[in-house]
Amino acid sequence: MTWGIIGAMDSEVALLRDSMEVERTEEISGLTYYIGTLCGQKVIVVCCSIGKVNAAICAQTLAAVFKVDRLVNVGVAGALDERLRIFDVVVSEKLCYHDADLDIFERNPPFVSEYAADKDMVRLAEQACEKIAGTDFRCFGGRIVSGDRFVSENAEKQRIVGQFHPMCVEMEGAAVGHVAAANKIPFVVIRSMSDGADDNAGMSFDEFAPKAAEHSAKIVMEMLKLA
Ligand code: ADE
Repeated sequence: MTWGIIGAMDSEVALLRDSMEVERTEEISGLTYYIGTLCGQKVIVVCCSIGKVNAAICAQTLAAVFKVDRLVNVGVAGALDERLRIFDVVVSEKLCYHDADLDIFERNPPFVSEYAADKDMVRLAEQACEKIAGTDFRCFGGRIVSGDRFVSENAEKQRIVGQFHPMCVEMEGAAVGHVAAANKIPFVVIRSMSDGADDNAGMSFDEFAPKAAEHSAKIVMEMLKLA
């Protein structure tokens, strides 16, 4: 069983890459795939860069070239649910795009506008969270939305919340889910909150994203140990 683990920014995969035993690397479409073992599991760790298409290129390569059995997208997100605090973790149940016309997606093949994470992987991620959460952060499950922009205005935040009622927003998860669904690969997205996707999001992101990224990477490592 091989796990494909995708993060968009270097800080989101650094701990995983540094902790794994790398057997070899491969360069495909400008991305470097780190192939080896981590916490007793075969893994391929890769930094895909930001945005939906970069994430899709990466996920499709993991599916078609490396034939991974599981996909995990790990990283940080902007909090949309008011219960969430900085560093809290959201495990995806469902994902969709917040910057697309989902009605058109639903009326055309494959007639899907929302991607459901694998229930067993969600459970594993929640167990991993509970094991290491402690007092630092709490774990929530729910909907994650993705789009090709950094949400940093209250008005935009309110529009997304009103339309989708999600827990958090980021820029890749739904694209990974989309590719995983097309290839029938179980997947989950794990995100730690770096900001509130509001007028202060930029400053908050700069201050908290490195530590938030480390939290979600630690949860992935705990998942691999529990699997
Ligand atoms: N990732 C982390 N914070 C984000 C935000 N506010 N918008 C989009 N992606 C993010």
